[in-house]
Amino acid sequence: MTNENNPGSFGSSRGLSQKLKKDKKRKSSSTRWIGRQLNDPYVLETQKRGYKSRAAFKLLQINEKYKFLAPGLSVIDLGCAPGGWLQIASQKVSSIVGEEKVVGVDLLPTQEIPGSISIIGDISDKIVGKKLLKILGSNPNIIMSDMAANTTGHRQTDHIRTTYLLETALDFALDNLKKNGVFLAKCFKGGTEIEALSLMKKHFSRVHHIKPDASRKESVEGYVIALGYKT
Ligand SMILES: C[S@@+](CC[C@H](N)C(=O)[O-])C[C@H]1O[C@@H](n2cnc3c(N)ncnc32)[C@H](O)[C@@H]1O
Repeated sequence: MTNENNPGSFGSSRGLSQKLKKDKKRKSSSTRWIGRQLNDPYVLETQKRGYKSRAAFKLLQINEKYKFLAPGLSVIDLGCAPGGWLQIASQKVSSIVGEEKVVGVDLLPTQEIPGSISIIGDISDKIVGKKLLKILGSNPNIIMSDMAANTTGHRQTDHIRTTYLLETALDFALDNLKKNGVFLAKCFKGGTEIEALSLMKKHFSRVHHIKPDASRKESVEGYVIALGYKT
């Protein structure tokens, strides 16, 4: 039921809804999590399409709006595991095995995704950034970051940690993007992101906030996309 013009959208999920029997031993938070998974049309569609993660839809939907991924462009993906964004980016830029134009890094291992190369590392370590550039063989047209820290449940702490990752990704982008390049990153609204946003406004022609449909309504998660890097 894929919509050909909007590959990030698909048919109605009516009829899929499932009720989860309450297991007395199961904590209510895990009951809610499993219930969400069972009733989430994106989870089902992720499996059908063979995507490594549900996050693939977020990138598809952001790209439907801003159309920044195009054949021939090169991409660095920060926080790439398990690999949904690598799959979408490789398809969209037509990256092929042997001439990979998509390179990713994560603290965790990522399964092999044809058309991309991924390494294990922490992007806050400068050597890791250098490795990514060496593998790609040039500066990238696009740097994207879906990096997220493990959430603590404490809203302010989670916000500060995510903003730190946003700033780390932005520093890497400002040092390495090609002229007219694009920066896309996860961004929680909450106050501490203001400085990073003003840096983006200074160095890029356009900056937009976006909350793709695939990003859960109840989540504070959002994305920021900065287009037209001025160097
Ligand atoms: C939401 S997941 C990314 C999902 C991915 N975009 C996909 O489509 O499959 C966030 C990832 O960021 C990674 N991460 C967090 N901090 C990082 C860091 N400092 N360097 C590299 N990766 C990091 C985590 O290990 C985690 O796998």
